[in-house]
Amino acid sequence: MAAAALPGEPRPVIQLGDPRLRQVAVPVQDFDDRLQALIDDLIWTAEQTHGVGIAAPQVGESLRVLIVASRPNPRYPDAPLMAPTAMVNPRIVAHDEVMLDGWEGCLSVPDQRGQVPRYRTVEVDYCDRHGTWKRQVLTDFVARIFQHEHDHLEGHVFLDRVPVGRTVLSEAEYWTYVAPASSP
Ligand code: NI
Repeated sequence: MAAAALPGEPRPVIQLGDPRLRQVAVPVQDFDDRLQALIDDLIWTAEQTHGVGIAAPQVGESLRVLIVASRPNPRYPDAPLMAPTAMVNPRIVAHDEVMLDGWEGCLSVPDQRGQVPRYRTVEVDYCDRHGTWKRQVLTDFVARIFQHEHDHLEGHVFLDRVPVGRTVLSEAEYWTYVAPASSP
């Protein structure tokens, strides 16, 4: 009998400069207990750090696993609420042509926000935590989270996507100048 599901342990999130953030992550082969524990840890780590998503390479695991966990929190007050979703071996299978700019931060890039263009809509497929293939259309902020986390699996961070001449701000500048103007 397997132990009851534990909430998972927050894991240290590695920071820009750690070479593991720049590796291309490896596809998951086994949907075993170790994967289940990793997914639980990732969900818990995102929640504890006010992330709206996290990818396995950010805790030093070179595996193609990401969590999309949009919810309003102090770092993203306007984020839509959804249940945390684990996506294993995720892929973008289609996207629209519209790209929208939006402000992003990253648990692995401390004290920075950048304006990043992302597809407004992406169609994705992935395995759920038990290995069943799913296909889903994501839009707006949730699509942005997916694209940001999927980049981590390819060894990219959002700073790589900020167009030359576009703005990067410190968190303090962001909350002073940008957030008040964009609140409804
Ligand atoms: Ni990130």
